[in-house]
This record gives sequence, structure tokens and C-alpha cells, in this order.
Amino acid sequence: MMKQQKVKILAIESSCDETAAAVVEDGRKVLSNVISSQIEIHTVYGGVVPEIASRKHLEAIDGVIGKALADSSCTWDDIDAIAVTQGPGLVGALLVGVSEAKSLAYALHKPLIGVHHIEGHIAANYISDPEWQPPFLCLVISGGHTYLCIVEDYGVNRMLGETRDDAAGEAFDKVARAIGLGYPGGPKLQKAALEGNPEAFHFPRPCLEEEGYDFSFSGLKSAVLNTLNHLKMTGEAFTQADIAASFQAAVTDVLVGKTMQAAGEYGIRRVAMAGGVSANAAIRKAMQEACDFRGITLSVPSISLCTDNAAMIGSAAYFTYLRGDFAGPALNAEPDMPLLVR
Ligand code: KG4
Ligand code: ZN
Repeated sequence: MMKQQKVKILAIESSCDETAAAVVEDGRKVLSNVISSQIEIHTVYGGVVPEIASRKHLEAIDGVIGKALADSSCTWDDIDAIAVTQGPGLVGALLVGVSEAKSLAYALHKPLIGVHHIEGHIAANYISDPEWQPPFLCLVISGGHTYLCIVEDYGVNRMLGETRDDAAGEAFDKVARAIGLGYPGGPKLQKAALEGNPEAFHFPRPCLEEEGYDFSFSGLKSAVLNTLNHLKMTGEAFTQADIAASFQAAVTDVLVGKTMQAAGEYGIRRVAMAGGVSANAAIRKAMQEACDFRGITLSVPSISLCTDNAAMIGSAAYFTYLRGDFAGPALNAEPDMPLLVR
């Protein structure tokens, strides 16, 4: 029998503040994964400055792609397709990756694949667990998106509910800023919470008692800000750590609670998490315990694959490649790209 040829995809990600490139084989095996982070630069401003992000992507991208190819021990001849995050994200940042991918595909006569950033986050599960496959229930929690969906097939999602206002990551970032932790908020808040008491303050658990699978985090954020103002006005002693731990506990209860409600209602035995906030240790632990209690199998990407990277884009692109769904030279950045849903 003839040995089947492996498909190697070079993927590029530049939707926010990481310039990343990777080579992924058959959607599951990472041959290289290079990330150039801009965190230090944006820290000075307390958040991502879009214009600076675009400029830094331009400076870094050629080197990052060159390193991804070299680290994979591939030559351009070995690469079967070029994939790139098409959206959603910052338009100027996305354009750097998209223009680069289009130029490479054109010059090297390779097929081009546009990938939805969140499809990438979901696909991180296919890398961390090579046996993991649809269907499963997925909690997507990133800086810009929060929703629950059923991944019915590769790239085919059925939406159950989404946030009505802030995304989970956005709430982490805003609360972190309010209590003086700065950017990037999520990891700093997690660290601060380690020293705090999660029961020091009882913050609301929005939507938890409601039917349906929508989320809302802006009320929770306001509750934290009101508590902070009240404490400052009355001069009561409090610690950053207690606020962080109590906020994190409220978010965790809502995310885990809603996911378990959906798993129960739809009779789903396989659950995954995706997006930057799924790097959070408290949420991972609580979700694992809730799943273990109900005999549900949980997939969570390894920490480094939760936050933005290009390996996840290469994984999602492989399943698009198998469908023969290629982009033409008119591929454009789509800052508000909708997720393909049923
Ligand atoms: O998925 P991601 O890397 O980028 C987007 O697609 O948005 O998510 C970034 C978000 C940020 O809001 C960041 O604060 C949050 O993920 N995040 C975390 C943690 N690590 C990253 N939130 C809570 N705990 C963490 N450990
Ligand atoms: Zn992301």
C-alpha cells in the first residue's frame, strides 16, 4: 500500500499583539511554533495600541516566518499550503498577516487558506489531544469573544449562547486595570488571586440562574468597581488579592455552571474549552472537577496553546484544506468576521 502523503501547512497569526507563525502536519502535529510577543511594548500604554501593533507585526513577521520554517526542518517545497488568520481582530494587524500570506502563496504557487481566529482557538484542542474530534460542547472564552457552542463537525458550529456585553477576557482585563494590576490583565489577576480569599466579597453571578446560555460580564465588572469605590470612600481596609480572588470565583462559577447546564440539557459527554481565558488555572480546575463529577470528558489545550499562536491556525486550516475550501488573491482581512454557524 502506498504511504499517504502528510499535509504540511505554514500558518500565520497577527490578529492582535502576537506575531506568530507555525508549521503543522495533518492538523495535529506541531513541527514548529514561533511567537514574537509585543506585550512589553504595550504594557507601557496599559493595553494594545493598534497602530503600534501593526508596525511591530511588519517588523517581526519575516523573521518569525523564517524561524518557523527553519525550526520545522522543512523547505518551502515541503509546504502544501499557506494559512492565515483572516479575522476577527484589529484590521491593521490582520492586514500584515494577510498580505504576507497572499504574497507567499502567489510567489510560491501554493494554495491559500483564510482562517477564522476562533476556529483556530477551538482547533488548539485537536493539537493538545490528537484523538479529540467533533462532536463536543465548546466554551469559547477569549479577549473578544465568549460563547457556548456545539462543534458538530470540523468548522461547523451550532451556537447556544454568547455574551451580551463584555467578553470574559475583557472583564478580567478591565477589573485588573481597576485594581491597579495593569496589562495583561488575565494572567496578573490570576497571580494576585492566589493570595486572596475567594469568599471575601460576594460578587453577582450574572445569568447563572437564567434559562438559556447567554453570558453577561459588564454587570459583574460594575459590581467590582462599585465595591472598590465604596471601600475607598469608607476607608475600609481591603486587599487587591481578595478582590481578584472573589471576582475570579464569580466568573468561574458562571462559566462552569453554564457549561454544565448545557451539557446536561443536550446530553453531551464531551466538553472542550478554547481561548486565552482557558489558560486560567482556577477555571481549568473547577471545570475539571465539574466534569469529573458528572463523568464528562474534558479537553483543554495546553496553556501555551490557549493564548494566541499560529499552530492553532495551522490545525484549523488543515480541516479547511481537506474540504478543498481555498481562498483566492482577493482574500481580505475581516475585522468583524462572523463565525460560521448553523
Ligand atoms: O484568546 P486570546 O489570547 O486573544 C483573543 O483572541 O482575544 O485571549 C486573550 C485574553 C485576554 O483578555 C487575557 O487577559 C486573557 O485572555 N487571559 C487570561 C489568562 N491568560 C490570558 N484570563 C484569565 N486568566 C489567565 N491566566
Ligand atoms: Zn485569540
